[in-house]
Amino acid sequence: PVSWKLDDHPKLPKGKTIAVVVLDGWGEYKPDQYNCIHVAQTPAMDSLKQGAPEKWRLVRAHGTAVGLPTEDDMGNSEVGHNALGAGRIFAQGAKLVDLALASGKIYDGEGFKYISESFEKGTLHLIGLLSDGGVHSRLDQLQLLLKGAGERGAKRIRVHILTDGRDVLDGSSVGFVETLENDLANLRQKGVDARIASGGGRMYVTMDRYENDWNVVKRGWDAQVLGEAPHKFTSAVEAVKKLRENANDQYLPPFVIVDENNKAVGPILDGDAVVTINFRADRMVMLAKALEYQDFNKFDRVRFPKIRYAGMLQYDGELMLPNRYLVSPPEIDRTSGEYLVHNGVRTFACSETVKFGHVTFFWNGNRSGCFKPDMEEYVEIPSDVGITFNVKPKMKALEIGEKARDAILSRKFDQIRVNIPNGDMVGHTGDIEATVVACKAADDAVKMILDAIEQVGGIYVVTADHGNAEDMVKRNKSGEPLKDKDGNLQILTSHTCQPVPVAIGGPGLAPGVRFRNDVPNGGLANVAATVMNLHGFVAPGDYEPTLIEVVGN
Ligand code: 3PG
Ligand code: CO
Repeated sequence: PVSWKLDDHPKLPKGKTIAVVVLDGWGEYKPDQYNCIHVAQTPAMDSLKQGAPEKWRLVRAHGTAVGLPTEDDMGNSEVGHNALGAGRIFAQGAKLVDLALASGKIYDGEGFKYISESFEKGTLHLIGLLSDGGVHSRLDQLQLLLKGAGERGAKRIRVHILTDGRDVLDGSSVGFVETLENDLANLRQKGVDARIASGGGRMYVTMDRYENDWNVVKRGWDAQVLGEAPHKFTSAVEAVKKLRENANDQYLPPFVIVDENNKAVGPILDGDAVVTINFRADRMVMLAKALEYQDFNKFDRVRFPKIRYAGMLQYDGELMLPNRYLVSPPEIDRTSGEYLVHNGVRTFACSETVKFGHVTFFWNGNRSGCFKPDMEEYVEIPSDVGITFNVKPKMKALEIGEKARDAILSRKFDQIRVNIPNGDMVGHTGDIEATVVACKAADDAVKMILDAIEQVGGIYVVTADHGNAEDMVKRNKSGEPLKDKDGNLQILTSHTCQPVPVAIGGPGLAPGVRFRNDVPNGGLANVAATVMNLHGFVAPGDYEPTLIEVVGN
């Protein structure tokens, strides 16, 4: 049994109101015209930076610092919020799947055995994001799984692809589909009937999150399960090339691949097996519910096939969703949120829908809901639905700022935690002008929160989960922007590998508190112990070290 009692901090008092602000997609990078944070008016964040080095510093938010396989892996919200909340670095889904595939353990597990019982008579369907982005899935993992399943008796395989353009360059989908087609051709040579069956752009088909818009999942369902879509093609490469004339990779409309009789080649039928190949949870949970729940009323499934379904990982440990999975997820336990409520810290968490789970579910170690409902309040502000966020780049920043301000001024909470999505969500659209507006809106929200903290004599901790808006172009090794063969700038819609700021301050911050200089490689995981200290507690011994020290008496 866990002992939740935290030791008192020898020097820091309890009872301060602390705002923990996470700016999504807000890294630190050289100031140039493609750095939207630099271009935007951001007086609140600029003033925090003046506090360097004692009250402002940078921390690592990518690669091994957040449990990803290599230093080339950009950060993302899942691993970033996991690290911020858990105070320790866990090997994350990407890494765990790599290990399971490399050792072959994935094929010995319960999940694979379960789906393989359908290999003799049914089809194996693989559904997921097709790219090498490494945020939700990775092409090389799909390739290994295809090969492994073929070698282990899968006779008929259908792949339902979701094109990316968000964690990778827009337009890269064509190449990924070509690579996959090549692999499938190799499988066919070995006697496995393997084909792409359907597809669509990740933001328009299937990969919604936090129940923002079930229509997205329905569009995917119709194509993947029912074999119905507005667009029919005989080749997936052709489909993607053609549909790209009117949409980018993220937003391609759904399509199905049909045979010479115009019949879909791979609807999901009774007796089939299905694997959702994404390791990351947030954008697979909704599909997993549709595939698994007998009782389901989010949209009309028309047909609910009797399948053997497994996730690449289990996406929600509380809901045990899905029930079967190929690789066990990281066991992120004893998060700072859970410790703090057990030590009397009343907590308020808020964001708008598209990031709500980040500051609750991911923050709490991929766990849904509160720990102690009487001590916590989680507020979700509905996001705009059915638009790309460059159209409304201010998103709900103002509303999030207001909710946080009211929660601070109410004095009902000790910790007020928010995620401000703008830099990330608008950054992902690749629209530079809109991202500048987004960054200003995020800064305005920060200002509101800092003002409220000022009024109640509280403390603020302002940080970010990973980079995005600070660099909007792809660059060569020496940092110069890259152009494509037509001379167009290569817009970077994805996250980055840049570090992110951490700033502390506020009237409640005890004199003498400053950043230590002996944790130069500090990362997001060091923030949890820091926040615990500011609440007046010493962090558990196995947490990454605090970033602060108290000098003087
Ligand atoms: C997404 O899911 O929107 C992107 O792949 C990653 O963005 P996030 O990690 O900031 O959510
Ligand atoms: Co993002």
